Amino acid sequence: MFTLSDERPDDWWEVEALYDTCFAPGRTLLSSYRLREGVAPVAALCRVARDPQGMIGGAIRYWPVRVGGARALLLGPVAVHPTAQGEGLGAALIRDTLARAEELGEDRVLLVGDAPYYARFGFERLDGVVMPPPTNPDRVLGFALRPGAWDGVTGEVTSWQQEA
Ligand SMILES: CC(C)(COP(=O)(O)OP(=O)(O)OC[C@H]1O[C@@H](n2cnc3c(N)ncnc32)[C@H](O)[C@@H]1OP(=O)(O)O)[C@@H](O)C(=O)NCCC(=O)NCCS
Repeated sequence: MFTLSDERPDDWWEVEALYDTCFAPGRTLLSSYRLREGVAPVAALCRVARDPQGMIGGAIRYWPVRVGGARALLLGPVAVHPTAQGEGLGAALIRDTLARAEELGEDRVLLVGDAPYYARFGFERLDGVVMPPPTNPDRVLGFALRPGAWDGVTGEVTSWQQEA
């Protein structure tokens, strides 16, 4: 059994270690990490899943980005420890945080990931939304927290720090 809670500042390195375990080496070289540099994550949407001993078995973080000037949330990284995968924890973290993002008044979420996994949450390929290279456009997926929130929102994905 896992319990979801907010990531605390003290959890930062345990979450990083979990990501190191779950992703291929060199994960921080991915272009999505360039969009996170020097920008604070959205604290209210950074959540961890703890087992009864308090160990973190899953984690999700979000960062704000701009898409052609409009605000969007970049979902990820999300990861579940290999010993706990396939039990619905990833889905629980994603559903929990999408609902929170909606409550916070956010409009839209994007990510770079496997469409066959994220389609179940309502993510669809985003046409005309360009992540920094090298990114496979088929892996750039979006979810509208409000009807039509992605309509007309296109362009390059840039750091939240950059002026629109
Ligand atoms: C992707 C991840 C977060 C999913 O978490 P999880 O708790 O294992 O997933 P869930 O239990 O919610 O869902 C399991 C289902 O997703 C499927 N699935 C998992 N990863 C998938 C992928 N990359 N592509 C397609 N389907 C995938 C499983 O086959 C399973 O399918 P089923 O429901 O038909 O049996 C987890 O597997 C993980 O940490 N993977 C390594 C890191 C990673 O790839 N993160 C995502 C970056 S895009």
